[in-house]
Amino acid sequence: MPESKSATLSMEVLLSEDDWAEHLRDETLLGLQQDPPSTPPVWFYDAVGSDLFDQITGLEEYYPTRAERAILAEFGNEIAGLSQANSLIELGAGSADKTRLLLQALTDCGTLQRYVPVDCSQAALIDAGQRVNSEFPSLAVDAIVADFNAHLPHFPRGDCRMIAFLGSTIGNFTPAQRAMFLADVADHLAPGDTLLLGTDLVKAPERLIAAYNDALGVTAAFNLNALEVMNRQLGSNFDADRFHHDAVWNADDSRIEMRLVADSQQRIVFSSLGGYAVEVPADGWIRTEISMKFTREQVAGELTDVGLDVVGQWTDPDADFLVTLARR
Ligand code: AVJ
Repeated sequence: MPESKSATLSMEVLLSEDDWAEHLRDETLLGLQQDPPSTPPVWFYDAVGSDLFDQITGLEEYYPTRAERAILAEFGNEIAGLSQANSLIELGAGSADKTRLLLQALTDCGTLQRYVPVDCSQAALIDAGQRVNSEFPSLAVDAIVADFNAHLPHFPRGDCRMIAFLGSTIGNFTPAQRAMFLADVADHLAPGDTLLLGTDLVKAPERLIAAYNDALGVTAAFNLNALEVMNRQLGSNFDADRFHHDAVWNADDSRIEMRLVADSQQRIVFSSLGGYAVEVPADGWIRTEISMKFTREQVAGELTDVGLDVVGQWTDPDADFLVTLARR
């Protein structure tokens, strides 16, 4: 890392590993008790799963990452100029690639002084922080280990901020979770602050399904890896060889659902969830992720509903993905 007198990296920890682990256990137990049983997508992202996700973003069929990158490359400067942000607060570990485009545009615009990456993984933040430090030596990097659903009120206030939530990660939320999250963000923003939101758009079901059921089977491996992670973290007894991956388009709820389907009847016991057991019949399934697909109007409407003004919306040339800037 090149030495620079302004490149600084600070780390604030709002979330202890124990609290986070407990939160995830509670959330998982709650999901397993529903019909159909579901598990939170967080179990995808151990080191193996994060690597598989990186591979997914490069797949022919998986367009969202490429499309969002194209939008930020083409309209980053316009977005930066409209926001005039001094601080960029980024929720969740975005692809470093896309963050870089945004940081570059905001730096070129001359307003940006501080980058605040927020993530539940301290290791990911150290990585990202060091990279940004070396590429953007004029920026202070103030990383925060946090659960952005719980810790929003504790993020730095003061200057003109942009909160960025990219990658259509918001698509993992249920409508109720999303409404609550957007209301919390709007509440937290001060007048003049902005939210930059990346959302995947509704399109032909064949393309959506292909994006989540790729020919090389990378998404299948990514989905099945969650079973290994849960076995380690929750003391469960999944046999990944007896499940297979499926991705279904749920048109009524406008979302892709990732599922793990049992090849034969199975009883799964979670020893770290008080021995909670789930009976999965043959061909029964556990839902491991929802990925909402939006329209422009829906995104604009939901932001307006929480009291934000939509300043701009941008898509890639094929209109596969949407980036929206909204101001308090
Ligand atoms: C990271 C939540 C945006 O929903 O497209 C990719 C995760 N799952 N392939 C998505 C994912 C399967 C991804 N998000």
